[in-house]
Amino acid sequence: MAKMATGRRDDLDAQARRILHANDRGGYTVPNPHVYPFQWNWDSAFVALGWQEIDSHRAWRELQTLFAAQWEDGFLPHIVFWQQDPGYFPGPDVWRVKRAPATSGITQPPVAASVVRWMWERQGSAADMVVADLYPRLLAWHRWFRRARDPEGFGLPLIIHPWESGRDNSVEWDAPGEAVDTSAIEPYERRDITKLEHGMRPTKRDYDRYLALLQFGRDKGWDQRVIAAEGPFRVIDFGLAAIFLRAERDLAVIAERLGRTEEAAETRSSVARAETAMQRLWQEDPGAFCSLDLRTGAPVRVITNASFLAFYAGIGNARQRGRLIAHLEDIAAHCRFVVPSLDPRHEAFDPLRYWRGPVWAVVNFLIARGLEETGYGRWAERIRLDTASLIRKTGFFEAFSPIDGAASGGADFSWTAAIWLAWAGRTPEHRQDAARASRQADGA
Ligand code: GLC
Repeated sequence: MAKMATGRRDDLDAQARRILHANDRGGYTVPNPHVYPFQWNWDSAFVALGWQEIDSHRAWRELQTLFAAQWEDGFLPHIVFWQQDPGYFPGPDVWRVKRAPATSGITQPPVAASVVRWMWERQGSAADMVVADLYPRLLAWHRWFRRARDPEGFGLPLIIHPWESGRDNSVEWDAPGEAVDTSAIEPYERRDITKLEHGMRPTKRDYDRYLALLQFGRDKGWDQRVIAAEGPFRVIDFGLAAIFLRAERDLAVIAERLGRTEEAAETRSSVARAETAMQRLWQEDPGAFCSLDLRTGAPVRVITNASFLAFYAGIGNARQRGRLIAHLEDIAAHCRFVVPSLDPRHEAFDPLRYWRGPVWAVVNFLIARGLEETGYGRWAERIRLDTASLIRKTGFFEAFSPIDGAASGGADFSWTAAIWLAWAGRTPEHRQDAARASRQADGA
């Protein structure tokens, strides 16, 4: 029995490696060649963790390639269009960012500094040089968030487009999105629904808003300060905020270890501001940290998978954490696989539609990491096992139904493969097996 299970796992390891190799474009990895044929920002951070299991040099390269597209002001785009691909919409001709390489004009959750810290801790002094090289770029991006995305000194960065959250059409953006005027959008043709089922993708109403916001940014020449101050969509996304706060802490640790004492202190003071601001996001109803519409001041009172990133951000007192765990228990009683991207009891819950129900392996990884660190190891292991079961049962899909594990989105997805290699498929025994196998391969 045990042998069979190991065999299957090794098969999945081999498949995951094959996916990363197949999606490798030399220095960066496409999330999926059919649906997402370019380099995506937070995908690359997760994908680097997968590459680390195969080739540490290639893992660093993924991040170096991403940061090669950084703008002079520190901004790091959510897509880098390293090559042409007419099969994707909206492409560089729509974004009209006048730069080479062409990029989008919005960013994504800053997971990179945390990934750099983890990879450095794992690889030790062999990675000193590459970390020293990446650190100023990470700092520049974080400073950009502090400066360009916090015009009113809230203490946490705002997002100007739902895509910046990485959870593109989460129900959290429905109410804030109502203010977006879609009457002047240019005619457009979606490509996503020619490749994936309509029922899994955002609706036309949502897509019109995405395009209207893109056009707004473009009309402002992608001047981020103007967009952040005047744009029709200005929201503190709790998910991005949690990832940012965590990344700020990790960046401060990197700075200290590199002997950059003043910069470490600067980053620590941003951490302190962010921690204070987080308490303004807590809402007794529903008992969670909630995203906030800065235009109206209205909190978005829903429980999504992002709610559970509070542990990863290291925030919340015992009572707040207790309430979050109670939500997790309720959610687990209403679906087979945790953590769904929307509470299954919510009226908009849809097990296969983008960010309105399906489980994402990468978000599970962050949630579990936070739970593990804050003393909820059993929940962390439950989430890892559910993630592994989904992949084992269905394959390396973009996302999965929390009800029955059915596939949602694209197949052979890079970040799902990476998360399998780095976490979901790694039990303690397996780590020992892998170490033995590599000793044997070395002829020891
Ligand atoms: C979708 C996801 C986003 C991801 C991208 C590429 O747009 O919502 O988070 O970065 O696909 O995988």
